[in-house]
Amino acid sequence: MSHTYDFVVAANRLPVDRVTGEDGNEEWRRSPGGLVTAMDAVMRGRDGAWVGWAGDPGEAPAPFDDAGMHLHPVPLSEQEIADYYEGHSNDTLWPVYHDVIITPTFKRSWRGAYRAVNKRFAQACADVAAEGATVWVHDYQLQLVPEMLRELRPDLRIGWFNHIPFPAVELFAQLPGREEILEGLLGADFLGFQRTEDAGNFLRAVRQYLDLDVTGDVVDLGDRAVRATAVPISIDTEGLRAVLDTDEVQARAREIREQLGNPDKILLGVDRLDYTKGIRHRLKAFGELLADGQLDPTKHKLIQVATPSRERVKAYMDLRDQVELTVGRINGDFSRIGATALTYMHQSFDRAEMAAMFAAADVMLVTPLRDGMNLVAKEYVTCCPADGALVLSEFTGAATELGEAYMCNPHDLTGLKQVIMKAITAPSDDREQRMSALRSTVSTATVQEWAKHYLAALQAAPARPEDEVGS
Ligand code: ADP
Ligand code: F6P
Repeated sequence: MSHTYDFVVAANRLPVDRVTGEDGNEEWRRSPGGLVTAMDAVMRGRDGAWVGWAGDPGEAPAPFDDAGMHLHPVPLSEQEIADYYEGHSNDTLWPVYHDVIITPTFKRSWRGAYRAVNKRFAQACADVAAEGATVWVHDYQLQLVPEMLRELRPDLRIGWFNHIPFPAVELFAQLPGREEILEGLLGADFLGFQRTEDAGNFLRAVRQYLDLDVTGDVVDLGDRAVRATAVPISIDTEGLRAVLDTDEVQARAREIREQLGNPDKILLGVDRLDYTKGIRHRLKAFGELLADGQLDPTKHKLIQVATPSRERVKAYMDLRDQVELTVGRINGDFSRIGATALTYMHQSFDRAEMAAMFAAADVMLVTPLRDGMNLVAKEYVTCCPADGALVLSEFTGAATELGEAYMCNPHDLTGLKQVIMKAITAPSDDREQRMSALRSTVSTATVQEWAKHYLAALQAAPARPEDEVGS
């Protein structure tokens, strides 16, 4: 029998994607998104296994070790990528779980693929987990895995964490197969959510659709019980600071300001190119502020970084067209030769370049219409100047913890413009006080603390772990 592990993580993606270039050569690149940012830091050196997809179609690469982790690839066919990943995960569940910002698509064949791929992940976990091991399943793509895995391996301790919101019952109600998802999740011993509201939405759905008894945050299944509560995720503050505190990154931050022509204020947006992130609302606000004359294109520069994401899903293609049209219009109206109002980059960058951008930015614009957490907000707080200003949407999980940010409702364009102007023009001691409070939150609530707390809650479930009792 092959080597087995006491600690196994399962997520749709591995921390690295296999990419085949036009010359046929293969290379591994860091996968996009907050889940990988967080879990990569948690898993390094832990001697655990990570079960996930390598990001390309067809046969999976052989399992391999990297950065102190055992990576165990799960194959997806072209059809499964279309039906399970792009279809059910990202064109059905993603919009339903993000307040139905776009209309979800419901297809019965996609559900079949979702079930089949979840089964494959459950089997892969069962294959690599040692007797009595802990298996930590992640996110909305794998909601059936806990129940399937428990059937295969009742000896395991099984946890699940949702990186995205869990919708209100009125929206969850739309989902064909809603009972199957709730039953799938209840195969776990412990369920973690970003916010108390998300855990509450899940528990309400369980009461309503499975007619089970729920006492506090515990669901009674008769022969066992499952606890569901909030454990908000965070970032590897120390690791990011180590990147930030290098001469190269500090010099690069200065260089970015110079390259933009030493403006009075640099505004920054950093997101996956996703319709949940409120990028269009942010650009519209910036364009109107330039048009109103409240911002001056020679003194106020916006950098918008948009990581390519889910590029074959129609809503994402449409969003890219809309964003790029708006960027073109703003620059057409307001740029001068050698002085572009808005720098837009549809690219991924390494950690050092990201840290340099955060360090260079005076104002960070985080304006999602809905977001599970938003790690970018916490990364900015860690890297920005002492008087940096964070404009933060109240519809992010981060808003619960980062109350000292300049809060905004991105749907209210007039209000959003006012908040952006407030962040730009606030006296520096107001900005400094707010940032100092934000920093103290982010420097103590790190991703390492999150993992420690999550795993303690998983071991103790359905009871509360020691560090929560009495809190
Ligand atoms: P999500 O998980 O929805 O993508 P988060 O804000 O929680 O959103 O996490 C995004 C992560 O991806 C952060 O760690 C951020 O620094 C990283 N990131 C975002 N844009 C880029 C980019 N263009 N290049 C590299 N990393 C990026
Ligand atoms: O939690 C949001 C999420 O779906 C994560 O699973 C992942 O970190 C990120 O978005 C990227 O999405 P994808 O894996 O579809 O590129």
